[in-house]
Amino acid sequence: MNPSRPSEVAAAYNEWAATYDVVPNRTRDLAGDVLRRVNLKFTSRTIIEVGCGTGRNTEWLARSAASAKNIIGLDFSEQMLAHARARLNDPRVRFLRHDVRSAWPLENASADVIIVMLVLEHVEHLQTIFEEAARTLTAFGELFICELHPMRQLLGGQARFANVQTGELQLVPAFLHNVSDYVNAGLAAGLELTQLGEWRDAEAAPRELPRLLSLTLRAPVRPLS
Ligand SMILES: C[S@@+](CC[C@H](N)C(=O)[O-])C[C@H]1O[C@@H](n2cnc3c(N)ncnc32)[C@H](O)[C@@H]1O
Repeated sequence: MNPSRPSEVAAAYNEWAATYDVVPNRTRDLAGDVLRRVNLKFTSRTIIEVGCGTGRNTEWLARSAASAKNIIGLDFSEQMLAHARARLNDPRVRFLRHDVRSAWPLENASADVIIVMLVLEHVEHLQTIFEEAARTLTAFGELFICELHPMRQLLGGQARFANVQTGELQLVPAFLHNVSDYVNAGLAAGLELTQLGEWRDAEAAPRELPRLLSLTLRAPVRPLS
């Protein structure tokens, strides 16, 4: 999504919100499994979920990160956020409506872990996302990204859902990002790449294209100012 189409993606997710959690979706489910399989720092105090949607990952984060004092979900779809708010009743968790293409409502060096899952295909320019992550991460803080693999995008893969009223398949506007686009945007923001993952469905044949790409990046120690 780009600034010339500010509301198209949010509007699509407002419509998708009612069925997002209930209609089978292998990409959503595999991304959730991947999050559970990577070793994020759950000794963290502040965790940010960018594009938290209905809060399905936020709920797991809140359960898994007992030491977390603040868990903040950012999303610009009011309907997705309504599901997230109904799902979680935990004083440590807050959901904020925000378009993550503009400066995040977070202090510098305030987040120990930032996760971004199945969001960036809707963001045309990745650099702001990585720069905001680099700005808000603490030293050695981690940014975890998990997105539809660009090979799948090249074959036509794109977020889509059946409209509840009409039953018509609706595509959510998306942009292609190559693996190098993610890696170079992270490096340009001053982050270090610590892990790259390519993930297939459990039952996939070995030669099947990976469904998801994941990256873990780490913020360097900050110079004393
Ligand atoms: C496919 S859903 C993923 C939700 C959740 N991360 C998950 O894995 O289930 C994508 C989410 O990203 C949000 N999103 C997309 N572009 C955004 C933007 N520019 N600012 C804030 N949220 C955005 C959508 O509203 C939607 O809730």
